[in-house]
Amino acid sequence: MLLDVGGINTYYGTSHILQDVSFSVDSGEVVALLGRNGVGKTTTLRSVMGLTPPRDGTVRLQDQELRGLAAHAISRLGVAYMPDDLRIFPDLTCEENLQIAAKLSPRTGYWNQERVEELFPVLADRRRQKGLNMSGGEKKMLSMGRALMSNPQLILMDEPSEGLAPLVVRALAGSIMEIRSHGVTILLADQNLKFCRQVCDRGYIIEKGRIVHQGTMEDIWGNEAVVKKYLAL
Ligand SMILES: Nc1ncnc2c1ncn2[C@@H]1O[C@H](COP(=O)(O)OP(=O)(O)OP(=O)(O)O)[C@@H](O)[C@H]1O
Ligand SMILES: [Mg+2]
Repeated sequence: MLLDVGGINTYYGTSHILQDVSFSVDSGEVVALLGRNGVGKTTTLRSVMGLTPPRDGTVRLQDQELRGLAAHAISRLGVAYMPDDLRIFPDLTCEENLQIAAKLSPRTGYWNQERVEELFPVLADRRRQKGLNMSGGEKKMLSMGRALMSNPQLILMDEPSEGLAPLVVRALAGSIMEIRSHGVTILLADQNLKFCRQVCDRGYIIEKGRIVHQGTMEDIWGNEAVVKKYLAL
């Protein structure tokens, strides 16, 4: 297993949000965290990244325990985080946003500006545009590109498909398949089941801070009772 999360409990102040959450992601897999609004998907990704550290349990990246490490240390070990609000620097250009990510990472590998722009040609077209002038879809691609610039083993993506037009979602699914083909492992939180079915191998369903179901995406997609109970809007 590349990522092995065992029995974590995460709190916001006195609110006990994640309750004994366990899941794992194998090297090369794309795995989904599914569930309705407010169930704990973002908190799960933040717990892995060290942004809201779990109070107990384990978060292992291969043999390395991540729990207790700061986010920047976790990032150096090869975990990248694409937050739901993307955190694009508005006053920097598209290119500068990419370059900063590379500068902050000691890691090298396949991904550089040229490869990222090959994957997302629109980022080459927008090279000198400021972050604030980019569209929602372009910002998603930039944020994903920035994650890649750190040459991570694992990318945590929060709501990659949210707010995008169906055509853009389809293109993004293709890009994720391409990223995966270069050996990058992905854990994503998303509410778009159709998108997850396209890009993910397996999924975990969260409800009120607990994992209530897990299976292959095909199993979940075909399980009407589970979809109705935990996912249907
Ligand atoms: N900073 C915070 N302080 C207190 N409670 C919080 C904080 N952030 C989130 N929560 C609570 O933690 C719970 C889980 O939130 P989380 O954002 O992880 O859910 P989510 O599944 O990502 O939801 P969404 O679909 O809205 O993104 C919710 O009840 C939420 O209200
Ligand atoms: Mg969320």
